[in-house]
Amino acid sequence: MAAPESVVQVGERWSSRLTFILAAIGSAVGIGNIWRFPSVVGQNGGGAYLLPFVLAVFVFAVPLMILELAVGRHLGTDVVSAFGHFKARFRTLGCITCLILFLMMSYYLVITGWTRAYAVFSLSGTEIAFSSFTSSYQPVVFFVISVAITGVVVSLGVRHGIEKVTSILVPASFVILAILAIYSGTLSGFGEGVEYLFTPDFSVLADPTIWSAAFGQAFFSLSVGMGVMLTYGMYLGRGISIHRSSVIVTVADISVAVLAGLVIFPLVFTFGLEPAMGAELAFTVLLQAFHSIPFGQVLSVIFFLLLFFAALTSAISMLEVNAATIMKKTGMDRKRTSILLIIGTVIVGIFPCLSYSGANLSLSGIRVLDIMDETVGTFGLPIAAIFISLVFSWYFERKELAAEIPGRWPPFVSLTTRYVVPMVLVVVTMSTLIQAVL
Ligand code: PHE
Repeated sequence: MAAPESVVQVGERWSSRLTFILAAIGSAVGIGNIWRFPSVVGQNGGGAYLLPFVLAVFVFAVPLMILELAVGRHLGTDVVSAFGHFKARFRTLGCITCLILFLMMSYYLVITGWTRAYAVFSLSGTEIAFSSFTSSYQPVVFFVISVAITGVVVSLGVRHGIEKVTSILVPASFVILAILAIYSGTLSGFGEGVEYLFTPDFSVLADPTIWSAAFGQAFFSLSVGMGVMLTYGMYLGRGISIHRSSVIVTVADISVAVLAGLVIFPLVFTFGLEPAMGAELAFTVLLQAFHSIPFGQVLSVIFFLLLFFAALTSAISMLEVNAATIMKKTGMDRKRTSILLIIGTVIVGIFPCLSYSGANLSLSGIRVLDIMDETVGTFGLPIAAIFISLVFSWYFERKELAAEIPGRWPPFVSLTTRYVVPMVLVVVTMSTLIQAVL
């Protein structure tokens, strides 16, 4: 099958392997690593969770990442057209994937706004509890600003926008994380934190909920199964090795998650706080710790900056998927497309945003953001990942795959993405659904 006419112009390619890898790491490393990973570890019994997570990452998420990048580079086109390339009616699956990602982005940017808010508060020395913050209307302001920043970066294009921003923010995030990790090494609770994070308790491996949590986290954390890697793959030059880059991005992603755990758990134990605090871990537990330690203000500034940088570079990748699709479908230029997406994201995201504000927008007592996370976040992502793995592994021919990745990789990638990944995703999603209903 011949590749369709490429929409990629010369200016719209990564300028080097390094900038591509930094952008891909920027997408992968996000709130999922620094905030969600430690809280999922906390809820799933500490170190026990690490084994299924690493397994899920290397055996399932990496092959899908490689497949997405290979299809993206080979076809050189956006998600919807890539689906449509194989069969016209698959376009619907591409549209559903884009919609799921758009909805996810709309509340991801709400949280991005919170991280920005706390970076600003810490910088100005304002001590404001998360509950007071979310009972004001400030979250709306920070949300709108975050959407605008994301949109502006995307409007500047691959080289002048995404690549420039990720080349600065991703290395800066690594430096910040290293400083925080060194600091946490000096805390009295460090040993306990390390033990909590690394001591495996093999008995919990029999519990299916651990596995389902691990798979969900692996796909979310690596940004695979949503068309992000496919979109970034279309800007990839021929000379860049897809499998090596994927391994580098994955190792970086896991390292950040583990390092974040090494920063957070020692803080939690040093101050006698509760590790299994769930999603509000960063905004309540840690804030409490920062308020009570020397240099707490500096630490909290850099911690929330890190969260903000990580969230922003992930949100940029989510927006780019829809931007690429709209540009291709409508022929609109990047600027107009970005303005349209900024407006659309504000209109949709205002609902989850208001649910954590003075308006307290809820449906049957549950905040809209939580509802979206439990529906779109929990089920949308695996559904999109099932579409992507099934369509691209069965219809993208083995020899086309072999043109993108060398040696033994094509059989490994195609076997796992054809059979194992969709099967595991179906089982995990069904079991989560059953648990949710019961
Ligand atoms: N990987 C990002 C994180 O860990 C989230 C993300 C998911 C980004 C899907 C893009 C697509 O926070």
